[in-house]
Amino acid sequence: MSPLPDNLKVGIDSIDQRHEEFYTLFEVLKKAGDSEFLEAFDAVILHTQGHFSEEEADMEKIVYPNKAEHIQEHKKALEEMNYFREKASSGKLMFAKAYAKDRLEDWFRNHLLNMDSDLARVINKSSY
Ligand SMILES: [Fe+2]
Repeated sequence: MSPLPDNLKVGIDSIDQRHEEFYTLFEVLKKAGDSEFLEAFDAVILHTQGHFSEEEADMEKIVYPNKAEHIQEHKKALEEMNYFREKASSGKLMFAKAYAKDRLEDWFRNHLLNMDSDLARVINKSSY
């Protein structure tokens, strides 16, 4: 079964595919024990960097009014992930685990429902 809930699909395969990958890695992160957490978190961060870059490359191909705001949200999210990655590697694993469990999924969900859905709408309109 797809890890990406149907109501979070935007209907553009390349975007949905990236979101599937995020959810797959995120599921591993949520289940990770203490000794596996850093590796799983690194996998999520690495994926997210590539995911955001590809999305930002998509924005370059169209006239996208919310580009600056969208890129800013990506930047903030990656900064936050890296901040908690630092915490995790300096022995404050509980902070990072709480972030991953309570905050990251909500952030991603909201971002997807607002920003990424909006981007998908503009891409769809641009292809006609
Ligand atoms: Fe995005």
